[in-house]
Amino acid sequence: MDIRSLGNTGLEVPAVGMGTWQTFDVKEEVAEKHAREVVTRALASGANFFDTSPMYGESERVLGKALEGRREAALVATKVWAPTLREGRDQIRRALQFHGGKVDLYQIHNLVNWREHLDELDRRLDEGKIGAIGATHYLPGAFGELKTVMKTGRITAIQVPYNPREREIEREILPLATDLGIGIVVMRPFAQDGLFRRPPHPKRLKPLESFGVKTWAQVLLKWILSDPRCHVAIPATSKPDHVRENAEAGQGPWFGREEREYVTLLAGQ
Ligand SMILES: NC(=O)c1ccc[n+]([C@@H]2O[C@H](COP(=O)([O-])OP(=O)(O)OC[C@H]3O[C@@H](n4cnc5c(N)ncnc54)[C@H](OP(=O)(O)O)[C@@H]3O)[C@@H](O)[C@H]2O)c1
Repeated sequence: MDIRSLGNTGLEVPAVGMGTWQTFDVKEEVAEKHAREVVTRALASGANFFDTSPMYGESERVLGKALEGRREAALVATKVWAPTLREGRDQIRRALQFHGGKVDLYQIHNLVNWREHLDELDRRLDEGKIGAIGATHYLPGAFGELKTVMKTGRITAIQVPYNPREREIEREILPLATDLGIGIVVMRPFAQDGLFRRPPHPKRLKPLESFGVKTWAQVLLKWILSDPRCHVAIPATSKPDHVRENAEAGQGPWFGREEREYVTLLAGQ
């Protein structure tokens, strides 16, 4: 697995990590055990960066439980997602309990009430309870405001969507992030499974095999990570075998311009 510096966060992250939206929002004991198995496979594959949020129902708690006894082996990224400072403080307190008193990357989810939460997160950063501060948004319509937050100089990572069908960040966000030394966490690498609805025929992936990718999921992840401005992609999966398959795409050789254009064509069909 390729390890990358996540901008100026000071965090060294694997190229492929894992998201937990929906997949870790479970309550039954069997489902929680299954989540632990997914995490076990992720850690064994080197995909030790996990993204969660209080917006994802039970996910933060389930991830915390799945990491019990091995928290040190993981990097945890969560979010504050609250209209008021008071609610945000409660979320932060709960998250710190779930994750052994430390959150590696604390992000402001969808930029909700970001000014107030940023002050609170700065305080937690000074206390050493969090490793770095970030912000997230999934809508291109919010990227103007995201740029404003980036330019405050107070965040060192952002989480945004990027895949061959969602390329808006190429216009202004990626260049600005590079100028400012801001790390990029890539959400929705498969367009929330939209890129699996009509996958290309396996024989069309043959020309890419020399890059160490065999499946459409691996091709898509390699497409993202071949842009060195993207540091960690966080596909979500409920299947341990998919965890390993995804992790295998997190190392070179990387695609050049020609291969990336070819994948874009495949994804457009
Ligand atoms: N901050 C935000 O606004 C925001 C918004 C969206 C997402 N996110 C973060 O980004 C993460 C990822 O985004 P996402 O969950 O929307 O979608 P995604 O990762 O683009 O796609 C998830 C889907 O891909 C499938 N999948 C995963 N690996 C696969 C493989 N190797 N082969 C075939 N199918 C595979 C999963 O099904 P299986 O379970 O069958 O593998 C699942 O249906 C989220 O979990 C969350 O942490 C953040």
